[in-house]
Amino acid sequence: MDDSGFSTMLTRLSEKSRDDYYNPYTKFSWPDSVSEEQWWMNPDYLTVSGTGLIEDEKTLKALARLETVNFFSLHVHGIRELMIEVAKRIHTPDFAEYNEYLHHFIGEENAHMWFFAEFCYRYTGGIYPEPASPLRREGFGDLWDDVVVFSRILIFEEIFDYYNSRMGKDPLIPDILREIHSAHHHDESRHVAFGKQLVKRLYDRAAAADPSRRDEIEKYVKDYMTYSVRSLYNPQLFRDCGVEKPLEVRRKALSHPVREAFHVKLMARVDRYFVATEIFRTSWGTDHVNA
Ligand SMILES: [Fe+2]
Ligand SMILES: [Fe+2]
Repeated sequence: MDDSGFSTMLTRLSEKSRDDYYNPYTKFSWPDSVSEEQWWMNPDYLTVSGTGLIEDEKTLKALARLETVNFFSLHVHGIRELMIEVAKRIHTPDFAEYNEYLHHFIGEENAHMWFFAEFCYRYTGGIYPEPASPLRREGFGDLWDDVVVFSRILIFEEIFDYYNSRMGKDPLIPDILREIHSAHHHDESRHVAFGKQLVKRLYDRAAAADPSRRDEIEKYVKDYMTYSVRSLYNPQLFRDCGVEKPLEVRRKALSHPVREAFHVKLMARVDRYFVATEIFRTSWGTDHVNA
C-alpha cells in the first residue's frame, strides 16, 4: 500500500491541531445564566420536529433545553468510553504511526468532554446518565475490534458534526451554545478526516487477515448507527418536560416518516462513506427505510 498520502495527511492534521490549540478552560466566557426565553436548540432540530406530537411552545422550549443537555451528555458518555479504547491502543506497535495524532485526539476529546459537561452543570441539573447499550463492544478478534472502535468513533463524530456545524452558526440560540457547537465543529472536522482514512486502513488490514467476519461487521456497524439515532430520543426528556405518555410520544416520534427521512439525512455522509469504501454492501439508509 502506498502510504505517503496517509502520512502527509497525519502530519498536516497534527500541525493543524498544534496551530489551533486552545485552552478549553479559558476559551469561553460563561455568562451567569442562559435565558430560558431563548431556544437552546433550533426547533427544527428537535426530535419531535415535523411530527406535530408536541405543539405548545413552552413545552417545546423546555424540550430544546433538555435535548441540548441530552446531546451534550451523549458526548460525555460516548467519548469517555471511546477514549478508553484509544488510550488502550496509543503507543502499541499496531498504532505506532498514529501516536502523535492520537495524542491530539485524546487531548481534544478531553477538552470537549469538559466543556459539554461544564455547560450542563453550570446551567442545568447536570448531565443525564449513560443510556444502556444493547450492543457488545468487542470479541470480534483484535483487528476487527480496531475496526469496530474507530467506526463507532466516526459515526459518533459525524452525528455530532451534523448538529454542531448547523447550530454553530445559528443566530437563534444563545451565544454560549453557539460558541460551544462551533468550537466542537472546528475540532471534529480534523477528527472526521483522520477517522475516514484510518477506518479504511484498519478495515483492509482486518479483511485481509480474516474476511469471514465482513458481514458480521457490516451488521454491527449498522446496528450501531441505529442505536445512535435512538439514543437521541431519550424518553426521560419527555417525562422531564411534563409530556404525557412520554414513552408513547418517543415511540411515535422515532417511527414517524418525517423523522425516518431525517435519520437517513443525518447519516447520509457516513453511510455514503461506508458504501464507497465497500465496508457496506448496501447502505444503512436503504435497509433503514425498508425495515
Ligand atoms: Fe468531540
Ligand atoms: Fe472527535
